[in-house]
Amino acid sequence: MTETEIKKGLAGVVVDYTAVSKVNPDTNSLLYRGYPVQDLAAAKSFEEVALLLWTGELPTAGELAEFVKAERAGRALAPNVKAAIDLLPTNCHPMDVGRTAVSVIGANHALAEESSPAAELSKAKELFAAFPAVVAYDQRRRRGLEVVEPREDLDYSQNFLWMTFGEEAAPEVVDAFRVSMVLYAEHSFNASTFTARVITSTLSDLHSAVTGAIGALKGPLHGGANEAVMHTFHEIGIDKNESREDAAARAKTWMEEALAAKKKVMGFGHRVYKHGDSRVPTMKAALDKMIEHYGRGEMLGLYDGLEAAMDEAKAIKPNLDYPAGPTYHLMGFDTEMFTPIFIAARITGWTAHIMEQRASNALIRPLSAYNGPEQRAL
Ligand code: ACO
Repeated sequence: MTETEIKKGLAGVVVDYTAVSKVNPDTNSLLYRGYPVQDLAAAKSFEEVALLLWTGELPTAGELAEFVKAERAGRALAPNVKAAIDLLPTNCHPMDVGRTAVSVIGANHALAEESSPAAELSKAKELFAAFPAVVAYDQRRRRGLEVVEPREDLDYSQNFLWMTFGEEAAPEVVDAFRVSMVLYAEHSFNASTFTARVITSTLSDLHSAVTGAIGALKGPLHGGANEAVMHTFHEIGIDKNESREDAAARAKTWMEEALAAKKKVMGFGHRVYKHGDSRVPTMKAALDKMIEHYGRGEMLGLYDGLEAAMDEAKAIKPNLDYPAGPTYHLMGFDTEMFTPIFIAARITGWTAHIMEQRASNALIRPLSAYNGPEQRAL
């Protein structure tokens, strides 16, 4: 086997079909079940997008109403999920909390439970409804605050922000959050989704697949990048009173030095998109609205300065995590909570892929080329 036959990182390898989403790097486009993601972000609730990803079609008004009712009723965490979270130290990474919570939610399903496509969809809906409470519960316990119970009169995004901050968010903030959830929901065979499919291919269960996917998402080359972007902003230094121009100049200098030191700067680059991430323009527009809402021009300066310097030096474009990180920061989330928010969104895509894998399964088991010592005697 030659070097060129080995596809390190599976780069360029087509592993299977999927009808869930189509990423087209030539046109910088992303379709969920045929619909452009930016059109969905402009017009649809996250609840509608979830149903689209799972079932292949946008819901009728009746189907949506039925789902919304069940979702609102399913938001509270089971006592043993809360108890498991309480056992975890508050200085662990919140992704560890998310991973553990999904594992416990899975363990609440009895061994003898029915296994069918309908049961699988019902588990996906249960996770969708419950996971925001995991993020909010963890965010509040880390801040030493009382837990805020979910409210059934609020939609998914409104309630997520309500449970986290204990107050109703402004409509612009809710909308920017909804947009981020729609954009983060699905992205074909990325590392975490592929992990979920590998686990499913062994005929393991949905919660094991999602738990594994969370592990893959945690890394900074994947979902952990939204958090890493904010560390970059903090390293450069955020000064609310600084002018946009001064912030941009400092960010530019930081980027030039980072690239001269051959650093990888998180939030830039993508395995599939080489001319720009399809989701960035929509997320950047949401970030712009947040910058205006909170009156934080210096954040735009930092954003523009880094982007311009990277473009000038290497022509590498931002990915979705780049505008998402500062958006969540402005909303008030702690930096470590950004990737768990990504989990809440991606539960939809992961579970859609788990169901698709299940429907036409083949065990995923690639080959390796051995390069260890030749056979030798003991
Ligand atoms: N900063 C600096 N240089 C970069 C970056 C970056 N963010 N991304 C790519 N490059 C450079 C590499 O150093 C490499 O240069 P070289 O050829 O001179 O060695 C070249 O561009 C190719 O990069 P690779 O890492 O080989 O490309 P690959 O397709 O494997 O990487 C990846 C894609 C992992 C996303 C990469 O761009 C990266 O590490 N980015 C930062 C992490 C990040 O933001 N991840 C989020 C992905 S999107 C998401 O999960 C929503």
